Amino acid sequence: PVGIQTGVVLFWFKMKVSRILWLLCKKSGVRTQTVCTGVSTNQQHKQLSSTSAVYRYSTTSSISHCTALIYRKHGDPAQVVQSESMNLPNVGAKCVLVKILAAPINPSDINMIQGTYAILPDLPAVGGNEGVAQVLEVGSQVKALKPGDWVIPRDAGLGTWRTAAVLAEEDVISLPNDIPLLSAATLGVNPCTALRMLTDFEDLKPGDTVIQNAANSAVGQAVIQIAAAKGIQTINVVRDRPDFTTLIDRLKAMGASHVIKEETLRRPELKELFKSCPRPKLALNGVGGKSATELLRHVQVGGSIVTYGGMAKQPITVPVSALIFKNIKVQGFWVTQWKRNHSQDEGALRSMLDELCSLICQGKLTAPACSEVGLQDFGTALDKAMQPFTSAKQVLVM
Ligand SMILES: NC(=O)c1ccc[n+]([C@@H]2O[C@H](COP(=O)([O-])OP(=O)(O)OC[C@H]3O[C@@H](n4cnc5c(N)ncnc54)[C@H](OP(=O)(O)O)[C@@H]3O)[C@@H](O)[C@H]2O)c1
Ligand SMILES: *[C@@H]1O[C@H](CO)[C@@H](O)[C@H](O)[C@H]1NC(C)=O
Repeated sequence: PVGIQTGVVLFWFKMKVSRILWLLCKKSGVRTQTVCTGVSTNQQHKQLSSTSAVYRYSTTSSISHCTALIYRKHGDPAQVVQSESMNLPNVGAKCVLVKILAAPINPSDINMIQGTYAILPDLPAVGGNEGVAQVLEVGSQVKALKPGDWVIPRDAGLGTWRTAAVLAEEDVISLPNDIPLLSAATLGVNPCTALRMLTDFEDLKPGDTVIQNAANSAVGQAVIQIAAAKGIQTINVVRDRPDFTTLIDRLKAMGASHVIKEETLRRPELKELFKSCPRPKLALNGVGGKSATELLRHVQVGGSIVTYGGMAKQPITVPVSALIFKNIKVQGFWVTQWKRNHSQDEGALRSMLDELCSLICQGKLTAPACSEVGLQDFGTALDKAMQPFTSAKQVLVM
């Protein structure tokens, strides 16, 4: 099974009082990830049989419990996610106690709750895969973090929709704490995806063109800004909506070269456009279905289409001619896989985050449009996150 955690050191017991008590297993020798998602109880027993002194120096932390958004079964997020109080374990020697400051609701979070995502934590699980937290306390063997530092998860599945957590130092990575909170909370997934896709598939030079659908998504907004910072032109495709001109203005203010409706992809206007800008070397597809096929038609000979999302839940049709006569490369990208591939290469993730933070500090990369929502209003936030045409990322603020 594709478990998304490699070592969870928590047992949970469902108490008669219908509260969940979380205990840190102090004898665990496994990689520590003190969240409730991940390995099955069986796995935990297996892993816990190897003992070590990792937690010998545990101290009593100043916070004894947190509020968490938990789901016990897969289904409609509105039905299955509930807010619960959860005890926090002591802070182990290699652990940190963090206060979660803000955590977004991304499509993959929704899919995980629905049970349709590629990786699923064992249940019960805390929702949320990204977010920014502030370190409150560190264990005696923690080397690189200190109280006050901001951290984000290194991998998916951490369960960020909660007020506080005890996490293994190795499961988080620090960020400068002078960037805007919403930028930090939304940095680890979407801007990383955008940067990698603009870097790893085609050798893009200033003046080159990238075309993308779902251009108003968080990924799309990051693509627009990162591309603009590199002098790369973007053709941004969005679905038509009543306030289309407002959206055009917003995306252009971010650096979008062109913003067009899905329908325009089939119109002669686009030929006109290609008189003034080169055909795209790279197409980024977050939608699938017809939208992807239409993007594909405009990619230059030998270029690539990279699929990273499937919001339309429709397969892609690739015209035979695109493969034979244009030799278009049809590929996919998954940032979680990239992070896992580079989990032993500290410098890779660090330098990607540095590059993004540097753009943030230069004012070239802002957070996607966000709606900040108090954790207690998670129901509304989950609803909104699933509505079309909202053009705002729901971010839970703790
Ligand atoms: N592969 C990876 O590593 C990776 C990393 C990050 C994100 N993703 C994926 O990228 C996609 C976007 O994520 P995000 O966080 O950037 O999204 P987001 O900010 O929540 O925005 C959602 C986007 O999807 C569009 N959309 C929703 N339903 C659609 C439909 N039926 N047909 C066409 N477009 C539709 C929305 O357009 P409207 O405004 O028109 O509704 C909006 O542009 C998701 O599929 C996500 O899972 C993948
Ligand atoms: C991860 O590594 C595998 C094996 O080297 C490689 O085939 C794959 O393309 C890599 N994926 C990403 C997203 O980096």
